[in-house]
Parts: sequence; structure tokens; C-alpha cells
Amino acid sequence: MKETKWWQNTAVYQIYPKSFNDTTGSGTGDLRGITEKLDYLKELGAGALWLTPVYPSPMVDNGYDISDYTGINPAFGTLSDMEELIAEAKQRDIRIVMDLVYNHSSDQHPWFIESKSSRTNPKHDWYIWRDGKEDGSAPTNWRGIFGGSAWTYCPERGQYYLHTFAEAQPDLNWENPEVRAALFAAANFWLDKGVGGFRIDAITYIKKPAVFVDGTPDGADGMVSIHAMTVNTPGILDFLHEFRREVFDRHDIFTVGEANGVSVSELSDWVGENGVFSMLFEFSHVLVQYEDEECWSKMVPWKLTKLKQALSASQASVAREGWYPIYFENHDRARSVNYFFPHGGDTRLAAKALATVLLTLRGTPFIYEGEELGMTNVCWESIDDYDDISSHGQYELALKEGFSPAEAMRFVHFNSRDNARTPMQWDDTAHAGFTTGTPWLKAGKSYPEINVENEIQGPIFTFYQKLIALRKELPIIAEGSYRPVYEDSQQVYAFERQLGDERLLVLNNFYPDPITIDILPEYQNGEVLLSNYEETQTAEVVTLRPYESLAIIVNKH
Ligand code: NOJ
Repeated sequence: MKETKWWQNTAVYQIYPKSFNDTTGSGTGDLRGITEKLDYLKELGAGALWLTPVYPSPMVDNGYDISDYTGINPAFGTLSDMEELIAEAKQRDIRIVMDLVYNHSSDQHPWFIESKSSRTNPKHDWYIWRDGKEDGSAPTNWRGIFGGSAWTYCPERGQYYLHTFAEAQPDLNWENPEVRAALFAAANFWLDKGVGGFRIDAITYIKKPAVFVDGTPDGADGMVSIHAMTVNTPGILDFLHEFRREVFDRHDIFTVGEANGVSVSELSDWVGENGVFSMLFEFSHVLVQYEDEECWSKMVPWKLTKLKQALSASQASVAREGWYPIYFENHDRARSVNYFFPHGGDTRLAAKALATVLLTLRGTPFIYEGEELGMTNVCWESIDDYDDISSHGQYELALKEGFSPAEAMRFVHFNSRDNARTPMQWDDTAHAGFTTGTPWLKAGKSYPEINVENEIQGPIFTFYQKLIALRKELPIIAEGSYRPVYEDSQQVYAFERQLGDERLLVLNNFYPDPITIDILPEYQNGEVLLSNYEETQTAEVVTLRPYESLAIIVNKH
């Protein structure tokens, strides 16, 4: 067994700073707000905090449009607030992890302002510029991920620039070594400040094909998704190995790449000794309800077996080499109790069932703010209540496809990224105790009941605490091998973990109806390590109650 790295048995907690805790009454969360809550996070058991981008930004995409890679957005505080956060966290043995958004910058970044000013300026090829077609239209028929053409015309240059995401997020030209050097220098700047790692945004898009051609249209707009045309282009790993050499290898940090488009079978080229990152966020298990994630009207019915297969395939892919970041929520997804349990029932029990899976699979668990309280989706009536750029794009797309406004809103309710971006619910006072001002996004209606003050002694938070502590105590949970069991069950997700002769069986009923199962013989007299119900025991035959999770251990060391 290789030596365990610090981040392999650490629980990472993701913070969306804009919505976490506002100390100034501005309506926007800030860095001091995070520092103020470090004791809460320590009590939960978090060992690292991933902050979504806190750099200067026009906030067209809530910080994923960066205008200065080595600064702090004044709305969040100052560089010295960041230094204080890093130092205070360190005192509590918590590391701060930053988000690197290197596929694109903001169109307000000085690099882009210079690049667009002429075809001859020193940064003229820091972004991806192309002439239009003969008729003056965009160079290709590619659709950006947030909708509309992926090209925007720039009159100063008489050319188009490429943007995988919004118009305000021009793609950087990684072919240019000066661009790569500037990006690596910015990452090293933060490492020198003591950050403990990076989450690297949209990294599978940085390499573009050598020749840009039209794709076969996949929608009524005559365009094709840019994802299909540019994701994971051969040659990308050369850039990433350079990134590893110039930045990651120099420090005891972890890196997690956001890698939509890397298949499970390719994971070993991306993670582990011969790969690039410590871990990779792949999307297979969170996309189980989509035929096409870029089109929210194309949802497919929920099937537990699809989720099981996706999780088992990812576990298998990093069994020998590499490591897996386990997650069910982040700032881009709806709340997990709604997404993974669409058949209703007691969402509080469901939250604990999902916590069991999150914290007993092999890998490093990532908990998103509010997940530890069982926060739920918001269902606002009007699209105007939503801030998220992709929710607006998807609403318009659904109308164009002929859906009624009510149907379009149904897609937004289920999928909107704002479901996860509402203010963190601290107590039952106005705006969930998040701000004394007017919050940038309304608090969810559930806050009078679901809030930290109520929950800190409550069943979900304390269950998270217990599981996080257990992971540290029992190496079998973080490191043991994984084997799916009861694979055909449509109702139960179960797996076995093993380390030496120690074995752990984890059973999770994903439905609000009870189910009776025969327990594997070796576990019939085992010890109940964990359950989300009181009074649980093992036997030859066990009836799992609604959303019941049960973990049985044998030969415990
Ligand atoms: C992925 C980020 O998680 C998302 O929030 C953002 O909109 C896109 N990348 C573009 O940076």
C-alpha cells in the first residue's frame, strides 16, 4: 500500500463565497464571512475548503469570468483578508483550495482588452481569433455551452473570437507559450501564499482542434454544441503535463480537474502517478437524468441502476491508480435530495442515505455548503427571480422549442444552478441570517426550519460529523477496495469494501418504500457500524425501511 496523502482521508467542503456569509451588509458574502465560520467548519470535520472564484470579476458568470488572476474581488474583501483566511484556517488544520479558471478569462481582463485592440498588438494571439466565413458570418456553426453562437464579432479587429461559455468569457490561446507561462505564474503566486490545492475549471476545453470546421447541427438553431467539437482534443495532455511540472509538482497540494468529456476508461491518463491531476471530477453519475445536459427539456426518467453503474465504473477506473473525488452537489447542480430522490418521501432521511454513500465510497468526499443540513431546491415562480445565466439561456431555449412558459419553468425548477446558490441558511432570522442587507439572491423558503442553528445538534449534521470522523478512524472507508453487490436491485445501492481481512457492507434503500433483502452470509452476525435509523440490527434477512442506510462490518480492527 502506498503512503496515504493528507487529502485522501480529508473531507473537502465547497464554499460558494457569494452566498456563504456576509459580514458587511452588502448582500454578498465575503472572505471575512468565511473566516468567521471556520469553527463551524472545523466542528463538521472539514480538512480543506474549496472556494469558487474570488478574483476580480465583472461577475457575468459569478466569478468564472476573471479579470485579474492574482487579485481579490473587492466585493469579497482584500488580499490581506485572503491571507488571514489562509492563516486562520491553517491554525485549525484546514487548507484553502482555490479555483483556477484557465480555459477563458473575462472580456474585461487587460489581456483581452489589449488582444482585441488590433491584429498586431503584442497580445494579438492570446485568445482565439478567426476571420468570418465569406458571407461574413461566424467562422463555424458552434453553439456555446450557455446557448447562442460560440463566436462573437469584434469590430476593432474585424474578426471573431471564440468563447466556449458566455460572450464575456473569451477562450485563452493555450498554444501560445506566453499565455501558459502567465497562467502558471498566477497559480504559483497563490501557492506562495500557502493555498493547499486547486480545482481547475473546464480544463477539458483548453486544446482546440488544428482546423475549425462546421459540425452536423444537433438542434433547431442549425448549430452544434461546441462541446462535441472541442472537448478533450488530442494533444491536451501535453499542455497539462507542463502545468503539472511547472506548478503542481512543486508543492504538497491536491489538484482536482473539472473534466466533463473524459470517459471513465481514460481516467488513468489523467490522474495518478503518470497522469496530471490528483483527482478528476467526471460527470457520469450526475448526468444520469439527462439525454443532453445542454438541453434541460431532454430529461430521461430516473433509474437507480444507472446511478449505480456510473458510480461503480468510476470506482473501478481508479482502483489501481489514481484517486476519486466523490460528490453529489456543487454550485452547478440542483440539490441532491431533489435530484437523486425524485420520488419524494422524507427528504431528511434521504439526505442521510446519500451522506452514507458520499462518505463510505473510496475516494475523497466533497461536501457542498448546505448539503450537511439537507438543503432543498427552490421553486420560484418567475424566471426573473433567477440570476443564473444558464437558467435564462435554458428557459429561452425551451420556449424556442415550443414549450409553454409553465413547462419551461418546470425545467428551470428541477435543474437551475440557483438551487444550490441561494444563501447559506444560518438561522431563522431575515434572509436566513446570511446578511443584514438585501441578499443578491433570495434565501430558499425552507430556512425557518432548515438552518445551522436548528441543525447543529440535529440528525443530518451530526450524521455527517460521525461519518467524517469514522472515515479518519477506519482506513477501510477511505482506502479499502470496492465491489458492487446486489447489482440488479432497482431499489438498493449496495457495495462491499475490503482492507486485508476487514470487510464492510454498505446498504442503501433509495426509495420511500421498505424492501426485504437476504444479507450476504458473512455479514449476518456482523457489527452494525452505522445506520440512519435508531435500533438497527443485522440478521439473515433484513427489511430496510424507507431510505434506510445500514453499514455492517466484520473483522473490525
Ligand atoms: C464550470 C463552472 O463550475 C461553472 O460554474 C462555470 O459557469 C463554467 N465552468 C464556466 O467557467
